[in-house]
Amino acid sequence: MFICICNAIRECELRAAAREHAGDADAVYEQLGKRPQCGSCLDEATLILLEARGEVPEVAPTTGQPALSV
Ligand code: FES
Repeated sequence: MFICICNAIRECELRAAAREHAGDADAVYEQLGKRPQCGSCLDEATLILLEARGEVPEVAPTTGQPALSV
């Protein structure tokens, strides 16, 4: 699934990058050779980075939604 449409960044790419690169979504995008454009993906990208690093639970057990908002 594409997380960032502007840069064609897939969720699996973000998860792999989260394990290789520190920093927020902007920093990880830069490591991938990309730059945020519209910015609409950044909240979701941040959650994915945190999840991939084990910094937040994947989803809330009752709602199926991300457990924390950023
Ligand atoms: S969807 Fe990621 S910058 Fe636009």
